[in-house]
Amino acid sequence: MDKFLITGGHPLTGTIRVSGAKNSALPCMAAAILTADDVILENVPQVRDIDTERKLLASMGAEVELWDDGDTRRTRIRCATLSDPIAKYEIVKTMRASSLVLGPLVARTGIARVAMPGGCAIGGRPIDLHLKGLEKMGAVITTQHGYIEARTDRLRGAHIVFDKITVTGTEDLLMAAVLADGETLMENCAREPEVVDLAALLTAMGARIQGAGTSTMCVQGVTSLSGARHRIFPDRIEAGTFLIAGAITAGDLVVADCNISHLGAAIAKLQEAGARVDTLGRDALRVRSNGYLRAADISTEEYPGFPTDMQAQYMALATQADGVSLVKENIFENRFMHVQELARMGADIRLEGRTATVRGKAQLSATHVMCSDLRASASLVLAALVADGQSVLDRVYHMDRGYERIEEKLRAVGAKIARVSNVPAPQSEEALAG
Ligand code: EPZ
Repeated sequence: MDKFLITGGHPLTGTIRVSGAKNSALPCMAAAILTADDVILENVPQVRDIDTERKLLASMGAEVELWDDGDTRRTRIRCATLSDPIAKYEIVKTMRASSLVLGPLVARTGIARVAMPGGCAIGGRPIDLHLKGLEKMGAVITTQHGYIEARTDRLRGAHIVFDKITVTGTEDLLMAAVLADGETLMENCAREPEVVDLAALLTAMGARIQGAGTSTMCVQGVTSLSGARHRIFPDRIEAGTFLIAGAITAGDLVVADCNISHLGAAIAKLQEAGARVDTLGRDALRVRSNGYLRAADISTEEYPGFPTDMQAQYMALATQADGVSLVKENIFENRFMHVQELARMGADIRLEGRTATVRGKAQLSATHVMCSDLRASASLVLAALVADGQSVLDRVYHMDRGYERIEEKLRAVGAKIARVSNVPAPQSEEALAG
């Protein structure tokens, strides 16, 4: 089980590059189920969740190929035959986003069996809204022995109003609607950029979609879809994490290959907290800080509000800001797993329900901490970058789910970070020079 050794106190300077968006690549890979032709995706990040999805598709009978083509990584997926349209528990339990195959499977084959995803560290993560929508489209849903089965002769267009805004729920039902018979009107949809990226791929495959990126989408079902080639857009959460890394270390960091238009809320909050964030050309941002940060509150909202996936990272920054910052988590019921670990490093954080009160500036001290979920891991890396001494982060496999080669990228801009396995004892700083 890999660990990170991080020695704090080194400002990040230089240029760090953003990879493709994991949460866009996952639905786009599932979209390949909708056609028997090749779907070629470029700029797919090499992270664990993508490998998990590749295994899931292959287990159902898809051909899945990955190759590096110079500067970009391509994945080719061909679902000519889906011999075994079941998303097995062994895979689903490691990644709940496996539920994204439900809609496309039942749309393409008329039957889908998906292991119930179960909860995860940040909350119950139900998929009742996915199932409710599929039922409205004519699927018969049964649950037995821990598996959900959706069955239909052919899905039919329907009027779906989401009780709650759900990103993968919107994506799942969009993928079901594109092959349904007739028109589907979906209201209270998620407006996240990842929905827009998926809709762009589906349109390239021949789908007829209006309103992607707004709360209301209208889909005219077609009888079949063809293959397509599509480039996954940059990961806005990775980009936001790097912006915070530059600010928290009092660095001068260029975050390149990002989509600036997806980062409005994060940029505004960093500027409110006293960091300098400037646009450089079309797809790069420069973040600078002199080490003085001001307290600023956040309240997580659906896009384009402040993203829940940036809450843990922002909290690390708030521990270094002068004053009291309120961090309110409105999307998930248990997304404060990083709080106790930050407190063990010396942060002053009080939790009341869904609100954390963060008092800064706290001098963080290096220690042994435990990663619990993807974004909590990022928060601990950020804290360790400013803590005095060498921190040891356990269970970094959580980080590997959504951040590509993170220690290499951070080391290249001055971080003292090393990945080690079965570390016997904290190593000397020289070993970290890497
Ligand atoms: C997506 O998860 C992302 N994952 C999450 O990113 C992200 O945190 C989340 O959207 C919110 O932005 C992927 O895209 C693969 P939701 P998703 O359905 O779709 C409730 C990361 O760190 N809900 O938008 O599962 C749910 O419990 C991950 O990269 C229902 O009640 O989230 C939550 O409270 C973590 N019933 C709220 O809606 C449903 O059927 C929003 O969840 C579906 C959701």
